[in-house]
Amino acid sequence: MSDSKGKMLWGGRFSGGSADVTKRISSSVHFDGRMYEQDIEGSKAHARMLGKMGVLKEDEVDAVVRGLDGILNDIGSGKFVFSEELEDVHMNIESELTRRIGDAGKRLHTARSRNDQVALDMRLYLRKEISAVRTLITGLMSIIVGLSEKNMDAVMPGYTHLQVAQPVRFSHHVLVYAWQLARDLERLSAAERACGSMPLGSGALAGVNYGNDREFLMKELGFDRVAENSMDAVSDRDFALDFLYFASVLGSHLSRFCEELVLWSSSEFGYIRLADGVTTGSSIMPQKRNPDVAELIRGKSGRLYGNLFSLLTIMKGLPLAYNRDMQEDKEPLFDSVDTVKICLEGMAEMLSGMEVNARRMKESVYRNYSTATDVADYLVGKGVPFRESHEIVGRIVAHCEEKGLDFFNLDAKTLRGFSGAFGDDAVGYFNPESSVERKVSAGGTSGSSVKGQAARLREIIKLYS
Ligand code: ARG
Repeated sequence: MSDSKGKMLWGGRFSGGSADVTKRISSSVHFDGRMYEQDIEGSKAHARMLGKMGVLKEDEVDAVVRGLDGILNDIGSGKFVFSEELEDVHMNIESELTRRIGDAGKRLHTARSRNDQVALDMRLYLRKEISAVRTLITGLMSIIVGLSEKNMDAVMPGYTHLQVAQPVRFSHHVLVYAWQLARDLERLSAAERACGSMPLGSGALAGVNYGNDREFLMKELGFDRVAENSMDAVSDRDFALDFLYFASVLGSHLSRFCEELVLWSSSEFGYIRLADGVTTGSSIMPQKRNPDVAELIRGKSGRLYGNLFSLLTIMKGLPLAYNRDMQEDKEPLFDSVDTVKICLEGMAEMLSGMEVNARRMKESVYRNYSTATDVADYLVGKGVPFRESHEIVGRIVAHCEEKGLDFFNLDAKTLRGFSGAFGDDAVGYFNPESSVERKVSAGGTSGSSVKGQAARLREIIKLYS
């Protein structure tokens, strides 16, 4: 912050000015400016506390609070011009406050340091964004559960190794993504809890020479505890790492979902059709409808991982307590907040306009011998040991492949040629629709299990809403 002679607020012991590159490398207001609301909220609470302590007189507290509210309005309406010269959001706001209200503004930084101020702002900022992200996640979960309920009985091939494995309900398959998001919500709450410790009063590192009422600040600012160790409070960025980890895992989930949307919307699969609004054309190939939104979300998981690794690496060798390296915490964090939000919005848009083609799923699940395991289990039911029945069904599959047949082309007589254990009821076991109903184990793909899952997910959504 420069005073009337053009010096920074910290400039008392300096005679020469900063080199140009020093100014450019240290300035952060072009990104930390986004924490202006939190910086002002923290300063107002700090001013009220200074009032209680007698450092500020009552009219000075009023002047500070009114001055800060004025600045808040001006920034909100775009009237405020941040200056890179003043380094960061903290010094921009404090300097403008002093310009507007005079001496009381200069007293505001009593019993406080930018180190505990920035630790506070980031926690407040992240807490607010966490609640916005939570709303987007529960919204997306509702869309997924709705999609599942609407297409409850569509049967598709389930895959392992991307090879047709066994028939599953589409409704069961998509709910996987809702369960993943349910776990993401738990990780998000862990990050939120980490944001809950109030750092103000730690000063630069050692505490301050005043009896700051930290309990008051904690309540005033809605924290659930006071940070116990001043040096820990200003050097801890675990809360940001927790969020970045949450964002990375969420990114991997969305990326996997998008991978399936890309596959499913291809003409080879044709299981879904994405709406025009989330696909794009090609400048050369007129027929194209490319799933760019899904691909971009899949790609953005890369930057989410990168941001986690940036901050882990920034923090790893730092001696206690604050080091300027830590200013590099913000861009990865902000980028992950923005990325997570736009990805969740993109997913919601794709899934709400998506058409499910149950007919194509059915065609695919009726080919490809998806009920081979059921047929083997049928023979087990007739007393054939599983290893033998596995072998018999393997031979049936080989026979079908050779003759260009599917399971449902076989009659009971042909089947008896493979094993005398086949009865007239066997043909029903080749049917994918009845296969899914035979999955009676809890958590399987039967209708009652999937409906139960949907209901439990709705409860979870309610819990977090
Ligand atoms: N802009 C700084 C940051 O983001 C604020 C704290 C600066 N503290 C200092 N001693 N230079 O980390």
